Amino acid sequence: QGGIRVYDPGYQNTAVIQSSITFIDGAKGVLRHRGYPIEQLAEKSTFLETAYLLLYGELPTKAQYTLFSTEVMHHTFVHRDLEDIIGSFRHDAHPMSILTAAFAALGAYSPEGNPSLAGQKIYTMDTEASLQLMDKQIFRLIGKSITLAAMAYRMRQGRQFVAPPANMGFADSFLFMMDHLNETNYRPHPTVAKALDTLFLLHADHEMNASAAAVLQVGSTLVDPYSAVSAGCAALYGPLHGGANEAVIRMLISIGGPENVPAYIERVKRKEVVLSGFGHRIYVSADPRSTIIRKIADDVFALTGKDPLLDTALALRDAALKDEYFISRKLYPNVDFFSGLIYRALGFPTDFFPVLFAVPRVVGWLAHWRQLMLSRNVKIWRPRQVYTGEGERAYIGMKERE
Ligand code: SDX
Repeated sequence: QGGIRVYDPGYQNTAVIQSSITFIDGAKGVLRHRGYPIEQLAEKSTFLETAYLLLYGELPTKAQYTLFSTEVMHHTFVHRDLEDIIGSFRHDAHPMSILTAAFAALGAYSPEGNPSLAGQKIYTMDTEASLQLMDKQIFRLIGKSITLAAMAYRMRQGRQFVAPPANMGFADSFLFMMDHLNETNYRPHPTVAKALDTLFLLHADHEMNASAAAVLQVGSTLVDPYSAVSAGCAALYGPLHGGANEAVIRMLISIGGPENVPAYIERVKRKEVVLSGFGHRIYVSADPRSTIIRKIADDVFALTGKDPLLDTALALRDAALKDEYFISRKLYPNVDFFSGLIYRALGFPTDFFPVLFAVPRVVGWLAHWRQLMLSRNVKIWRPRQVYTGEGERAYIGMKERE
Protein backbone atom coordinates (compact mmCIF):
# COMPACT_ATOMS: atom_id res chain seq x y z
CA GLN A 1 0.00 0.00 0.00
CA GLY A 2 1.58 3.28 -1.09
CA GLY A 3 5.04 1.73 -1.44
CA ILE A 4 5.24 0.76 2.26
CA ARG A 5 7.98 -1.82 2.68
CA VAL A 6 7.37 -3.10 6.24
CA TYR A 7 4.39 -3.13 8.61
CA ASP A 8 5.82 -3.80 12.07
CA PRO A 9 3.61 -2.43 14.88
CA GLY A 10 5.64 -1.32 17.90
CA TYR A 11 8.91 -1.76 15.97
CA GLN A 12 8.96 -5.40 17.14
CA ASN A 13 11.64 -6.28 14.64
CA THR A 14 12.64 -3.13 12.80
CA ALA A 15 16.03 -1.41 12.94
CA VAL A 16 15.54 2.36 12.61
CA ILE A 17 19.20 3.35 12.87
CA GLN A 18 22.77 2.06 12.78
CA SER A 19 24.70 2.54 16.03
CA SER A 20 28.11 1.68 17.48
CA ILE A 21 27.21 2.53 21.09
CA THR A 22 25.59 -0.56 22.67
CA PHE A 23 25.29 -4.18 21.59
CA ILE A 24 22.70 -6.61 23.00
CA ASP A 25 22.39 -10.32 22.25
CA GLY A 26 18.97 -11.10 23.71
CA ALA A 27 19.33 -14.87 23.32
CA LYS A 28 22.65 -15.05 25.15
CA GLY A 29 21.96 -12.25 27.66
CA VAL A 30 24.92 -10.23 26.37
CA LEU A 31 25.14 -6.45 26.93
CA ARG A 32 28.22 -4.50 25.84
CA HIS A 33 28.94 -0.76 25.72
CA ARG A 34 31.37 0.09 22.89
CA GLY A 35 32.48 -3.56 23.07
CA TYR A 36 33.05 -3.72 26.84
CA PRO A 37 30.89 -6.33 28.67
CA ILE A 38 28.53 -4.78 31.23
CA GLU A 39 29.86 -7.19 33.89
CA GLN A 40 33.40 -5.76 33.55
CA LEU A 41 32.22 -2.16 33.51
CA ALA A 42 30.02 -2.72 36.59
CA GLU A 43 32.94 -4.26 38.46
CA LYS A 44 35.79 -1.99 37.37
CA SER A 45 34.42 1.29 35.99
CA THR A 46 32.37 4.17 37.41
CA PHE A 47 29.25 5.85 36.11
CA LEU A 48 31.00 8.98 34.80
CA GLU A 49 33.81 6.97 33.20
CA THR A 50 31.22 4.76 31.43
CA ALA A 51 29.34 7.93 30.48
CA TYR A 52 32.49 9.15 28.69
CA LEU A 53 32.81 5.76 26.96
CA LEU A 54 29.18 5.85 25.78
CA LEU A 55 29.45 9.42 24.50
CA TYR A 56 32.90 9.39 22.89
CA GLY A 57 33.54 5.72 22.08
CA GLU A 58 36.68 5.02 24.12
CA LEU A 59 37.55 4.73 27.82
CA PRO A 60 39.09 8.09 28.81
CA THR A 61 42.71 8.74 29.74
CA LYS A 62 43.22 10.29 33.17
CA ALA A 63 43.45 13.75 31.62
CA GLN A 64 40.33 13.20 29.49
CA TYR A 65 38.40 11.90 32.50
CA THR A 66 39.48 14.80 34.71
CA LEU A 67 38.38 17.32 32.08
CA PHE A 68 35.05 15.52 31.45
CA SER A 69 34.13 15.02 35.10
CA THR A 70 35.14 18.60 35.95
CA GLU A 71 32.96 19.93 33.13
CA VAL A 72 29.96 17.83 34.18
CA MET A 73 30.29 18.68 37.88
CA HIS A 74 30.84 22.34 36.95
CA HIS A 75 27.35 22.33 35.38
CA THR A 76 25.33 21.06 38.33
CA PHE A 77 24.00 24.52 39.24
CA VAL A 78 20.61 25.47 37.81
CA HIS A 79 19.14 28.92 37.15
CA ARG A 80 17.35 30.38 40.16
CA ASP A 81 14.05 30.36 38.18
CA LEU A 82 14.10 26.55 38.14
CA GLU A 83 13.59 26.69 41.89
CA ASP A 84 10.36 28.64 41.32
CA ILE A 85 9.27 26.29 38.52
CA ILE A 86 9.88 23.14 40.55
CA GLY A 87 8.61 24.83 43.70
CA SER A 88 5.30 25.57 41.96
CA PHE A 89 4.30 21.89 41.78
CA ARG A 90 1.99 20.37 44.40
CA HIS A 91 3.67 18.25 47.08
CA ASP A 92 2.05 15.11 45.64
CA ALA A 93 3.12 15.67 42.03
CA HIS A 94 4.83 12.59 40.59
CA PRO A 95 8.56 13.41 40.40
CA MET A 96 8.77 12.11 36.84
CA SER A 97 6.21 14.75 35.79
CA ILE A 98 8.36 17.35 37.53
CA LEU A 99 11.58 16.07 35.92
CA THR A 100 10.04 15.92 32.44
CA ALA A 101 8.90 19.54 32.80
CA ALA A 102 12.23 20.61 34.28
CA PHE A 103 14.28 19.20 31.39
CA ALA A 104 12.09 21.06 28.89
CA ALA A 105 12.36 24.24 30.98
CA LEU A 106 16.17 23.96 30.98
CA GLY A 107 16.08 24.47 27.23
CA ALA A 108 14.56 27.90 27.75
CA TYR A 109 17.69 28.86 29.71
CA SER A 110 20.11 27.83 26.96
CA PRO A 111 18.87 29.73 23.88
CA GLU A 112 22.29 29.46 22.26
CA GLY A 113 21.77 25.69 22.26
CA ASN A 114 18.42 25.97 20.50
CA PRO A 115 18.62 25.40 16.73
CA SER A 116 15.28 27.16 16.26
CA LEU A 117 16.84 30.33 17.67
CA ALA A 118 20.52 29.88 16.83
CA GLY A 119 20.31 28.55 13.29
CA GLN A 120 19.33 25.02 12.22
CA LYS A 121 22.76 23.61 11.46
CA ILE A 122 24.40 24.32 14.81
CA TYR A 123 24.84 20.62 15.67
CA THR A 124 25.26 19.07 12.27
CA MET A 125 28.13 21.19 10.99
CA ASP A 126 31.51 19.49 10.73
CA THR A 127 33.27 22.18 12.78
CA GLU A 128 35.04 22.36 16.15
CA ALA A 129 32.58 25.08 17.21
CA SER A 130 29.64 22.76 16.55
CA LEU A 131 31.25 19.96 18.58
CA GLN A 132 32.00 22.29 21.48
CA LEU A 133 28.44 23.66 21.47
CA MET A 134 27.08 20.11 21.46
CA ASP A 135 29.35 19.04 24.31
CA LYS A 136 28.39 22.06 26.40
CA GLN A 137 24.68 21.09 26.24
CA ILE A 138 25.65 17.50 27.06
CA PHE A 139 27.67 18.56 30.15
CA ARG A 140 24.79 20.79 31.25
CA LEU A 141 22.14 18.10 30.93
CA ILE A 142 24.18 15.41 32.72
CA GLY A 143 25.33 17.79 35.48
CA LYS A 144 21.92 19.35 36.07
CA SER A 145 20.05 16.02 36.01
CA ILE A 146 21.05 15.25 39.63
CA THR A 147 20.23 18.76 40.83
CA LEU A 148 16.77 18.77 39.21
CA ALA A 149 16.06 15.29 40.59
CA ALA A 150 17.19 16.32 44.07
CA MET A 151 15.03 19.43 43.86
CA ALA A 152 11.98 17.31 42.94
CA TYR A 153 12.77 15.09 45.94
CA ARG A 154 13.08 17.98 48.41
CA MET A 155 10.17 20.04 47.06
CA ARG A 156 7.73 17.22 47.83
CA GLN A 157 9.02 17.07 51.40
CA GLY A 158 8.57 20.83 51.77
CA ARG A 159 12.29 21.23 52.39
CA GLN A 160 14.71 23.89 51.16
CA PHE A 161 16.74 23.07 48.06
CA VAL A 162 20.40 22.28 48.69
CA ALA A 163 23.01 23.84 46.40
CA PRO A 164 25.34 21.41 44.61
CA PRO A 165 28.39 20.67 46.82
CA ALA A 166 31.95 21.28 45.69
CA ASN A 167 34.48 18.44 45.32
CA MET A 168 32.09 15.51 45.55
CA GLY A 169 31.47 12.78 42.97
CA PHE A 170 28.34 12.44 40.86
CA ALA A 171 26.41 10.00 43.09
CA ASP A 172 27.75 11.59 46.28
CA SER A 173 26.60 15.03 45.13
CA PHE A 174 23.17 13.64 44.32
CA LEU A 175 22.84 12.06 47.76
CA PHE A 176 24.16 15.25 49.39
CA MET A 177 21.57 17.47 47.66
CA MET A 178 18.71 15.10 48.45
CA ASP A 179 19.21 14.40 52.05
CA HIS A 180 21.69 16.97 53.34
CA LEU A 181 21.69 16.44 57.07
CA ASN A 182 22.77 20.01 57.64
CA GLU A 183 26.16 18.72 58.68
CA THR A 184 29.22 20.50 57.32
CA ASN A 185 31.15 17.27 56.90
CA TYR A 186 28.24 15.21 55.45
CA ARG A 187 29.51 12.25 53.44
CA PRO A 188 27.19 9.52 52.14
CA HIS A 189 28.07 6.04 53.39
CA PRO A 190 30.64 4.58 50.93
CA THR A 191 28.56 1.41 50.37
CA VAL A 192 25.51 3.53 49.53
CA ALA A 193 27.42 5.86 47.19
CA LYS A 194 29.11 2.91 45.44
CA ALA A 195 25.81 1.01 45.09
CA LEU A 196 24.10 4.07 43.59
CA ASP A 197 27.02 4.76 41.24
CA THR A 198 26.96 1.16 39.96
CA LEU A 199 23.17 1.26 39.57
CA PHE A 200 23.58 4.48 37.57
CA LEU A 201 26.18 2.72 35.40
CA LEU A 202 23.85 -0.23 34.80
CA HIS A 203 21.00 2.09 33.77
CA ALA A 204 23.07 4.41 31.54
CA ASP A 205 22.16 2.99 28.15
CA HIS A 206 20.34 0.09 26.55
CA GLU A 207 20.42 0.46 22.75
CA MET A 208 17.22 1.60 21.00
CA ASN A 209 14.78 1.26 23.91
CA ALA A 210 11.48 3.19 23.84
CA SER A 211 12.86 6.30 25.54
CA ALA A 212 16.04 6.44 23.44
CA ALA A 213 13.86 6.07 20.34
CA ALA A 214 11.66 8.91 21.65
CA VAL A 215 14.73 11.13 22.06
CA LEU A 216 15.79 10.43 18.46
CA GLN A 217 12.26 10.74 17.09
CA VAL A 218 12.06 14.24 18.60
CA GLY A 219 15.76 15.04 18.06
CA SER A 220 15.49 14.19 14.35
CA THR A 221 13.48 17.42 13.88
CA LEU A 222 16.65 19.30 15.01
CA VAL A 223 14.97 20.61 18.14
CA ASP A 224 17.23 21.47 21.12
CA PRO A 225 18.56 18.47 23.13
CA TYR A 226 16.73 19.60 26.29
CA SER A 227 13.36 19.13 24.59
CA ALA A 228 14.48 15.78 23.15
CA VAL A 229 15.63 14.58 26.60
CA SER A 230 12.31 15.76 28.07
CA ALA A 231 10.54 13.51 25.53
CA GLY A 232 12.76 10.60 26.56
CA CYS A 233 11.94 11.25 30.21
CA ALA A 234 8.21 11.19 29.42
CA ALA A 235 8.60 7.85 27.60
CA LEU A 236 10.64 6.32 30.44
CA TYR A 237 7.93 7.32 32.95
CA GLY A 238 5.54 4.64 31.66
CA PRO A 239 5.04 1.42 33.72
CA LEU A 240 5.97 -0.71 30.69
CA HIS A 241 9.39 0.98 30.66
CA GLY A 242 11.28 2.78 33.43
CA GLY A 243 8.16 3.09 35.60
CA ALA A 244 8.35 -0.69 36.13
CA ASN A 245 10.77 -0.40 39.08
CA GLU A 246 8.03 1.50 40.95
CA ALA A 247 5.35 -0.95 39.74
CA VAL A 248 7.38 -3.94 41.04
CA ILE A 249 7.34 -2.64 44.61
CA ARG A 250 3.63 -1.86 44.46
CA MET A 251 3.09 -5.39 43.12
CA LEU A 252 5.18 -7.01 45.88
CA ILE A 253 3.33 -5.02 48.57
CA SER A 254 -0.04 -6.00 47.06
CA ILE A 255 0.97 -9.70 47.06
CA GLY A 256 1.65 -9.43 50.79
CA GLY A 257 4.05 -12.34 51.25
CA PRO A 258 5.55 -15.51 49.67
CA GLU A 259 2.50 -17.54 50.69
CA ASN A 260 0.33 -15.47 48.32
CA VAL A 261 2.63 -15.87 45.29
CA PRO A 262 0.83 -18.89 43.75
CA ALA A 263 -2.47 -16.99 43.70
CA TYR A 264 -0.79 -13.97 42.07
CA ILE A 265 0.85 -16.16 39.43
CA GLU A 266 -2.61 -17.54 38.55
CA ARG A 267 -3.95 -13.99 38.20
CA VAL A 268 -1.07 -13.18 35.84
CA LYS A 269 -1.87 -16.25 33.76
CA ARG A 270 -5.50 -15.11 33.57
CA LYS A 271 -4.08 -11.80 32.33
CA GLU A 272 -5.75 -9.91 35.18
CA VAL A 273 -2.38 -8.46 36.21
CA VAL A 274 1.12 -8.12 34.80
CA LEU A 275 4.23 -9.51 36.48
CA SER A 276 6.13 -6.22 36.64
CA GLY A 277 9.90 -6.49 36.34
CA PHE A 278 9.56 -9.54 34.10
CA GLY A 279 9.84 -9.85 30.34
CA HIS A 280 11.74 -7.88 27.75
CA ARG A 281 11.41 -7.09 24.08
CA ILE A 282 14.96 -8.27 23.38
CA TYR A 283 16.13 -10.52 26.23
CA VAL A 284 14.70 -14.02 25.86
CA SER A 285 17.00 -15.07 28.67
CA ALA A 286 17.97 -13.35 31.93
CA ASP A 287 18.75 -9.62 31.66
CA PRO A 288 22.45 -9.49 32.67
CA ARG A 289 21.82 -6.27 34.59
CA SER A 290 19.27 -8.02 36.79
CA THR A 291 21.87 -10.59 37.84
CA ILE A 292 24.33 -7.85 38.84
CA ILE A 293 21.65 -5.83 40.65
CA ARG A 294 20.66 -8.90 42.64
CA LYS A 295 24.21 -9.01 44.03
CA ILE A 296 24.22 -5.28 44.81
CA ALA A 297 21.05 -5.85 46.82
CA ASP A 298 22.93 -8.21 49.14
CA ASP A 299 25.67 -5.58 49.73
CA VAL A 300 23.08 -2.93 50.56
CA PHE A 301 20.96 -5.24 52.74
CA ALA A 302 24.11 -6.13 54.71
CA LEU A 303 24.17 -2.45 55.70
CA THR A 304 20.48 -1.61 55.93
CA GLY A 305 18.98 -4.93 56.94
CA LYS A 306 17.04 -7.16 54.53
CA ASP A 307 13.71 -5.91 53.17
CA PRO A 308 11.00 -8.54 53.83
CA LEU A 309 9.71 -7.85 50.31
CA LEU A 310 12.84 -9.66 49.05
CA ASP A 311 11.37 -12.99 50.19
CA THR A 312 8.23 -12.29 48.17
CA ALA A 313 10.33 -11.22 45.17
CA LEU A 314 12.45 -14.38 45.28
CA ALA A 315 9.38 -16.60 45.69
CA LEU A 316 7.71 -14.85 42.75
CA ARG A 317 10.83 -15.14 40.58
CA ASP A 318 11.35 -18.83 41.39
CA ALA A 319 7.68 -19.67 40.78
CA ALA A 320 7.63 -17.85 37.44
CA LEU A 321 10.91 -19.39 36.22
CA LYS A 322 9.44 -22.86 36.78
CA ASP A 323 6.04 -22.15 35.23
CA GLU A 324 5.33 -23.12 31.61
CA TYR A 325 3.36 -19.90 31.02
CA PHE A 326 6.51 -17.83 31.59
CA ILE A 327 8.95 -20.34 30.13
CA SER A 328 6.99 -20.62 26.87
CA ARG A 329 6.89 -16.82 26.59
CA LYS A 330 10.59 -16.54 27.50
CA LEU A 331 9.86 -14.19 30.41
CA TYR A 332 12.73 -13.53 32.81
CA PRO A 333 13.54 -10.87 35.43
CA ASN A 334 14.60 -7.61 33.80
CA VAL A 335 16.56 -4.63 35.10
CA ASP A 336 13.58 -3.39 37.10
CA PHE A 337 12.83 -6.54 39.10
CA PHE A 338 15.30 -6.06 41.97
CA SER A 339 16.37 -2.42 41.62
CA GLY A 340 13.35 -1.03 43.48
CA LEU A 341 14.20 -3.16 46.53
CA ILE A 342 17.57 -1.42 46.72
CA TYR A 343 16.13 2.06 46.29
CA ARG A 344 13.62 1.26 49.04
CA ALA A 345 16.43 0.08 51.33
CA LEU A 346 18.26 3.35 50.59
CA GLY A 347 15.20 5.22 51.82
CA PHE A 348 13.82 6.63 48.56
CA PRO A 349 10.03 7.00 48.20
CA THR A 350 8.53 4.46 45.75
CA ASP A 351 7.42 6.98 43.13
CA PHE A 352 10.98 8.37 43.04
CA PHE A 353 12.42 5.11 41.64
CA PRO A 354 11.83 5.97 37.95
CA VAL A 355 13.76 9.22 38.56
CA LEU A 356 16.73 7.06 39.63
CA PHE A 357 16.42 5.37 36.24
CA ALA A 358 16.01 8.63 34.28
CA VAL A 359 19.04 10.43 35.78
CA PRO A 360 21.65 7.95 34.44
CA ARG A 361 19.71 7.29 31.22
CA VAL A 362 20.22 10.95 30.25
CA VAL A 363 23.75 9.81 29.29
CA GLY A 364 22.49 7.07 26.94
CA TRP A 365 19.91 9.38 25.41
CA LEU A 366 22.61 11.99 24.74
CA ALA A 367 25.06 9.42 23.35
CA HIS A 368 22.44 8.40 20.77
CA TRP A 369 21.49 12.05 20.12
CA ARG A 370 25.16 13.00 19.59
CA GLN A 371 25.64 10.03 17.25
CA LEU A 372 22.58 11.13 15.23
CA MET A 373 23.79 14.75 14.97
CA LEU A 374 27.30 13.62 13.92
CA SER A 375 25.74 11.57 11.12
CA ARG A 376 25.40 15.02 9.54
CA ASN A 377 22.58 14.24 7.10
CA VAL A 378 19.89 13.97 9.82
CA LYS A 379 16.69 12.61 8.27
CA ILE A 380 13.48 13.50 10.10
CA TRP A 381 11.89 10.34 11.58
CA ARG A 382 8.50 10.13 9.90
CA PRO A 383 7.12 6.57 10.01
CA ARG A 384 4.33 5.44 7.68
CA GLN A 385 1.05 3.71 8.57
CA VAL A 386 -1.25 1.12 7.01
CA TYR A 387 -4.56 2.90 6.35
CA THR A 388 -7.64 0.88 7.41
CA GLY A 389 -10.27 3.63 7.28
CA GLU A 390 -13.12 4.52 4.87
CA GLY A 391 -12.65 4.89 1.13
CA GLU A 392 -13.52 8.21 -0.53
CA ARG A 393 -17.04 9.51 0.26
CA ALA A 394 -18.93 12.79 -0.38
CA TYR A 395 -19.74 15.29 2.40
CA ILE A 396 -23.39 15.40 3.58
CA GLY A 397 -24.89 18.32 5.52
CA MET A 398 -26.05 18.17 9.16
CA LYS A 399 -29.77 18.10 8.10
CA GLU A 400 -29.25 14.99 6.00
CA ARG A 401 -27.36 13.39 8.87
CA GLU A 402 -30.24 13.52 11.37
C1 SDX B 1 12.74 -1.66 30.61
O1 SDX B 1 13.74 -1.88 25.76
C2 SDX B 1 14.54 -1.82 26.74
O2 SDX B 1 15.72 -2.08 26.61
C3 SDX B 1 13.93 -1.39 28.06
C4 SDX B 1 14.86 -1.41 29.26
C5 SDX B 1 15.96 -0.38 29.13
O3 SDX B 1 16.99 -0.53 29.79
O4 SDX B 1 15.72 0.65 28.47
O5 SDX B 1 15.45 -2.69 29.39
C6 SDX B 1 14.11 -1.08 30.56
O6 SDX B 1 11.81 -1.02 30.23
C7 SDX B 1 12.56 -3.08 31.08
C8 SDX B 1 11.08 -3.59 30.97
C9 SDX B 1 10.30 -3.02 32.16
N1 SDX B 1 8.86 -3.32 32.03
C10 SDX B 1 8.25 -4.24 32.79
O7 SDX B 1 8.83 -4.95 33.61
C11 SDX B 1 6.73 -4.32 32.59
C12 SDX B 1 6.31 -5.80 32.42
N2 SDX B 1 6.84 -6.31 31.17
C13 SDX B 1 5.94 -6.33 30.03
O8 SDX B 1 5.05 -5.26 29.96
C14 SDX B 1 6.64 -6.69 28.73
O9 SDX B 1 7.42 -7.79 28.98
C15 SDX B 1 7.51 -5.65 28.02
C16 SDX B 1 6.78 -4.35 27.83
C17 SDX B 1 8.76 -5.42 28.78
C18 SDX B 1 7.89 -6.21 26.66
O10 SDX B 1 6.70 -6.32 25.95
P1 SDX B 1 6.65 -6.96 24.47
O11 SDX B 1 8.03 -7.22 23.96
O12 SDX B 1 5.74 -6.13 23.65
O13 SDX B 1 6.02 -8.39 24.73
P2 SDX B 1 4.48 -8.68 24.75
O14 SDX B 1 3.75 -7.70 25.63
O15 SDX B 1 4.01 -8.85 23.34
O16 SDX B 1 4.46 -10.09 25.51
C19 SDX B 1 4.52 -11.32 24.81
C20 SDX B 1 3.67 -12.29 25.66
C21 SDX B 1 2.23 -11.81 25.84
O17 SDX B 1 1.43 -12.96 26.10
P3 SDX B 1 0.49 -13.56 24.90
O18 SDX B 1 -0.27 -12.38 24.31
O19 SDX B 1 1.45 -14.19 23.91
O20 SDX B 1 -0.40 -14.54 25.61
O21 SDX B 1 4.21 -12.35 26.98
C22 SDX B 1 3.25 -11.84 27.92
C23 SDX B 1 2.27 -11.01 27.11
O22 SDX B 1 1.01 -10.95 27.77
N3 SDX B 1 4.00 -11.00 28.87
C24 SDX B 1 3.78 -10.95 30.16
C25 SDX B 1 4.74 -10.08 30.68
N4 SDX B 1 5.52 -9.63 29.70
C26 SDX B 1 5.05 -10.20 28.57
N5 SDX B 1 2.86 -11.56 30.93
C27 SDX B 1 2.90 -11.27 32.25
N6 SDX B 1 3.82 -10.45 32.82
C28 SDX B 1 4.73 -9.84 32.07
N7 SDX B 1 5.64 -9.02 32.65
